[in-house]
Amino acid sequence: MNILGINSAYHESAAALLIDGKLVCFVEEERINRIKHAKQSRVDNPHVLPEGAIRACLDYAGLKPHDIDYCAYSFAQNGRLQNVDVDTHLVQGGWGSPEGEKLFHARLQEIPARLESLLGHGIEGRFVWVDHHIAHAASAFYCSPFDDALALVVDGIGEFDSITAYNGTKKTLEKIFALPYPHSLGFLWEKICSYLGFSEYDACKLMGLSSYGDPLVFAESFKKLAWIDENTLFKVDNNIARFRSPDCSALEKLFGPARKPGAEITATHKNIAATLQKFTEDVLLILCDRLKKQHKFKHLCLAGGTALNCVANAIMQKHAGFDEIFIQPAANDAGTALGAALHVWCDKFGNSRGFVMNHSLWGPDFDEEAIQKAVAATSFRAEKVADAPERAARMISEGKIVGWFQGRMETGPRALGNRSLLTDPRRSDMREILNRKIKHREDFRPFAPSVIAEKAHDWFEIPARSIASDFMLFAYPTRKGCHEQIPAVVHVDNTSRIQTVSKEVNPRYHALISAFDRITGVPMVLNTSFNDSEPIVMSPADALNTFSRTGIDALFLGDHLILKDN
Ligand SMILES: [Fe+2]
Repeated sequence: MNILGINSAYHESAAALLIDGKLVCFVEEERINRIKHAKQSRVDNPHVLPEGAIRACLDYAGLKPHDIDYCAYSFAQNGRLQNVDVDTHLVQGGWGSPEGEKLFHARLQEIPARLESLLGHGIEGRFVWVDHHIAHAASAFYCSPFDDALALVVDGIGEFDSITAYNGTKKTLEKIFALPYPHSLGFLWEKICSYLGFSEYDACKLMGLSSYGDPLVFAESFKKLAWIDENTLFKVDNNIARFRSPDCSALEKLFGPARKPGAEITATHKNIAATLQKFTEDVLLILCDRLKKQHKFKHLCLAGGTALNCVANAIMQKHAGFDEIFIQPAANDAGTALGAALHVWCDKFGNSRGFVMNHSLWGPDFDEEAIQKAVAATSFRAEKVADAPERAARMISEGKIVGWFQGRMETGPRALGNRSLLTDPRRSDMREILNRKIKHREDFRPFAPSVIAEKAHDWFEIPARSIASDFMLFAYPTRKGCHEQIPAVVHVDNTSRIQTVSKEVNPRYHALISAFDRITGVPMVLNTSFNDSEPIVMSPADALNTFSRTGIDALFLGDHLILKDN
């Protein structure tokens, strides 16, 4: 049975293909259309399908459109109608307004027919609407290593709920908790991002900033905006937050003037970020504690955009009392494409799950011929080398910035060793060099290391093994005496958002880091995504393009080495 999972309701459009319950290909549309998050979340565009990602999945599997048996779409169209008449502050014609929600609903209804014209063969009759949060929960639980687990979903909003929890047992997910809009952690992050002069997608920046601040300074003021509630979990005063309006005036009354984009970042901004981070951690720990008392869960699966908060994840791992936590790498809305397909396979048809997601390499790959063709279309010359991991490690140890493009593309927002820029973690100036030559990121943002799994414990305090630490989803303290040796990858709070790399999962990347270890005595490299203010590169042509216009010193496309002065 071939099931195509699709997400396009809000943003992070994606497609995932399951064949007989096994994931074959999973692609985010942004990598193909080269627009970050694929599209903005708007009432007039849910019907804009990830056509490039769908094609990439079919091509990878060698299938034709008529080979798809079922389409699973990660949104339940009728659930959204509850959103009308909830907000006092909104934009007429936008989210929450009668006209806006009506338009959104109408556009959603167009999707089955659009897929029919794309895939043909009566697919409209084999189209399944899947609740957004069930799709999130399924995306984690049904490919986790656990038979039983608490599946916790935390995002901005699904159809109407912002947090849901499920009791996952083998082939079923039973809802055991729901918190409706406007009490939303995800939207708190989006709104405070905007108030602090960042894009609403910059939760990762805010999380990085929070480590510089004191969560106590604004603790009392913050309680007017959002507070823990004995009965429901927590509440938000939406007269202050105004989630569906760009208006920040009530937040300004509470915390002071909003920061303009690009303006200086002050202690106030850092303290607000720290308060939000602490509130998020408190909410998650309280909820897990309550649910564990009722259901005796041993395992936790996390999904939704908030599951990308590696600081909160590490706090959960240390203090929430689970034996193990699993998070799949595309925990954001892109992952619902996978989850919708898994829901149809497991819940709808009662099949056993077909795989454990122990790596992130589910995207397209490019063969020798495609690489040669892409190089030939540029003025660069490539040298084929027999020892690419060794050569790359040597260059990194000499202070070079290396583009490392290998095999299948990662899914999820992190580059994990196949579409990565790699450099030396030992150099304290490397963060500044990377930002100046390529990345153009804010200076306060940390870079992360990829460390070979067998030596990770020597350098970092890792409380428990989790597959999710292979996906760069936990920030761990560095061990005493270690951080001085790797200043480029340690944050101000002495933690590192590490990626553990095992030989079994990515032997080539493991070989590169092991070679760097032999040269330097340090079993890790600095790993940042292969991009400059754009989606991560997908194809050899994308990589060559970014290479040509940035300060990357050397590029490995498979075994082909390309240097700037060639
Ligand atoms: Fe979501």
